[in-house]
Amino acid sequence: MDRLVVTGGHPLRGSVRINGAKNSALKLMAAALLAEGETVIDGVPRIADCLTMTHVLEHLGARVGWRGSAMAIDTTDATGYEAPYELVSQMRASIVVLGPLLARRGRARVAMPGGCNIGSRKIDLHLKGFERMGAEFSSDHGYLVAKAPALIGAVISLDFPSVGATENILMAAVAASGTTVIENAAREPEIQDLANMLVEMGAKIEGAGTTTIEIQGSDGLRPVEHRVIPDRVEAGTFAIAACATRGEVLLEGARADHLDLVLAKLVDAGATAATEDAGIRVGMDDRPRQLDFVTLPYPGFPTDLQPQMMALLATARGTSIATENVFESRFMFVDELNRMGADIRTEGHHAVIRGVERLSSAPVRALDIRAGAAMVIAALAADGTSDITDVRYVDRGYEGFEARLAALGAEVHREPSLWPAGS
Ligand code: EPZ
Repeated sequence: MDRLVVTGGHPLRGSVRINGAKNSALKLMAAALLAEGETVIDGVPRIADCLTMTHVLEHLGARVGWRGSAMAIDTTDATGYEAPYELVSQMRASIVVLGPLLARRGRARVAMPGGCNIGSRKIDLHLKGFERMGAEFSSDHGYLVAKAPALIGAVISLDFPSVGATENILMAAVAASGTTVIENAAREPEIQDLANMLVEMGAKIEGAGTTTIEIQGSDGLRPVEHRVIPDRVEAGTFAIAACATRGEVLLEGARADHLDLVLAKLVDAGATAATEDAGIRVGMDDRPRQLDFVTLPYPGFPTDLQPQMMALLATARGTSIATENVFESRFMFVDELNRMGADIRTEGHHAVIRGVERLSSAPVRALDIRAGAAMVIAALAADGTSDITDVRYVDRGYEGFEARLAALGAEVHREPSLWPAGS
């Protein structure tokens, strides 16, 4: 497996173009299944997770290709209904094909996604929602077998505003008969992006981006061309990296309205953040001030930026407290950060971060996409040269990460694995 070799101490300076949002693009790709013909999605990032979703769609019979920066998905022959274990085990988000498959095929066979490095990650809310709409589920040798000869609109009240459950139910509801209401729906910008594309396809949706979404089912959605929103997590990651290295970066194309709380927290910590025509300029020239933050569903502080923020606060003046409310075990990377000289103690959902003056380089592992990004940020800020292994996690979420960091002045390069694949 490849590793990143990072020599810290170089402030990031310059501008970086923010790519299309991974967590939106994946759902937009699944939504293409709802229409027969060619859907074109511009701005899909070329990252491992989108490649995995491409393979899921191809397994279902779709043809997927690139037209410059746009991905074209032709569903004319997409008559399949199975998402196999080899793909779902690489990426849990593959489960979002369940809604479109139930809507279009009335059945689906999808490998059960297991847990991952941030928690057990159940899908009970997705299934309860589909059951309310008339679907039936059984399990067969690790596969979830779903049948829904007719999907009927229903009132579905989510116990927790799950992003994936909201999206999956939304995609089933647009093709169900009658009205579906999703209560306690997730409000993430990615939900609004999906709803916008579905409306362009002919769906009738009201309230996306609020806690109550009302959907009138309709027949015959048509393929469209759509542009994915900029990735707020990628933008936040570069912003935090700029602050951690005491540099200043223009996040080209980033949307400040998707990053309100993140920017406010960075400013609390001593950063400057200014919105310009081209994007958002963020920088920091001194050690951060301590601050406390709590992850919550949008518009709260995103859990997907919690590890990166911890890497920044590891060198803050004073003691910060981070509280993780979305995932059960998203502090596993803390041991790696402590190996770089951080002083962080966790107690259940809380982490107490005693700021140290400087981090020191060390060989560390990326444990998931965002923990991997946090390791890179810590290494960029540390004394000496760090080796970060399991870079495949970083590659799942960030396109050309090291090249874009290098263009901002970082000293970082990729070393291929010493061992042949499969050894
Ligand atoms: C999405 O995951 C994102 N992934 C995650 O990004 C992100 O961290 C998360 O939303 C929260 O913002 C994609 O969009 C592909 P959830 P998702 O359903 O949809 C529990 C990244 O690094 N839950 O909102 O899986 C669940 O266990 C990734 O880019 C249930 O209990 O998140 C978790 O604790 C990682 N039952 C919480 O809800 C369910 O049926 C939030 O999960 C569903 C969820």
